[in-house]
Amino acid sequence: MAAESIAAGDPTGWFERLYAAAEAGETAVPWDRGEPSRFFTQWAVTRARAGAGQRAVVVGCGLGDDAEFVAGFGFETVAFDISPTAIATARRRFPGSAVRYQTADLLDPPPEWHQAYDLVVESLILQALPDPPRRDAIARLGGLVAPGGTLIVIARAREPEQAVHGPPWALTRAEIDALGGGGLEPVTIEDLTDSQMPWPRRWRAEFRRPLPGSART
Ligand SMILES: C[S@@+](CC[C@H](N)C(=O)[O-])C[C@H]1O[C@@H](n2cnc3c(N)ncnc32)[C@H](O)[C@@H]1O
Repeated sequence: MAAESIAAGDPTGWFERLYAAAEAGETAVPWDRGEPSRFFTQWAVTRARAGAGQRAVVVGCGLGDDAEFVAGFGFETVAFDISPTAIATARRRFPGSAVRYQTADLLDPPPEWHQAYDLVVESLILQALPDPPRRDAIARLGGLVAPGGTLIVIARAREPEQAVHGPPWALTRAEIDALGGGGLEPVTIEDLTDSQMPWPRRWRAEFRRPLPGSART
């Protein structure tokens, strides 16, 4: 599905087709864990973020597990995905959820989302996009982070000389560093290994947008 979609010049069109096929019982969603990403939950618990009075956005939220976890910290949470079927399924899975699920495209976000979120969560989206449009997606992600806000990114990691035939396309350190453009500063960039995973290396990268007038740390 991905190969056909990319060859047709539509690198994101296959996500909806895949979720719709899964909904029809014809396939499984390969990244569906049925629970939040532990690379994300470990970070969130360690950083003990209290979200009351703050806004979070979960990018490419899929079936909603990460978004529900984020909302549990008290953030006013928006979660979006390019696939309307994924959003419909997330709403159905979590009736009465405090999360505002909506269909949207990271590559063309609503203007009112510009620098609007105290916490921006991206898990496995960039690695699911070829380049183009990955570079554009990197810039768009940073644009969602409010002054004083945080971006957390989870992705497969690789060395530049390591060939990958995606999706997914594991990210190089240079691609992670590129998230620091547009006024974001790196806080921690972890290169993690989990030998239980089919692809053991993962980036977990945290960036922040300094408050205006604050000294660089
Ligand atoms: C590999 S899945 C990861 C899903 C989820 N974040 C996770 O960690 O399990 C990539 C997700 O990003 C969504 N996606 C891809 N391109 C997108 C875009 N341009 N805007 C919003 N969502 C997008 C896909 O529909 C899919 O749900």
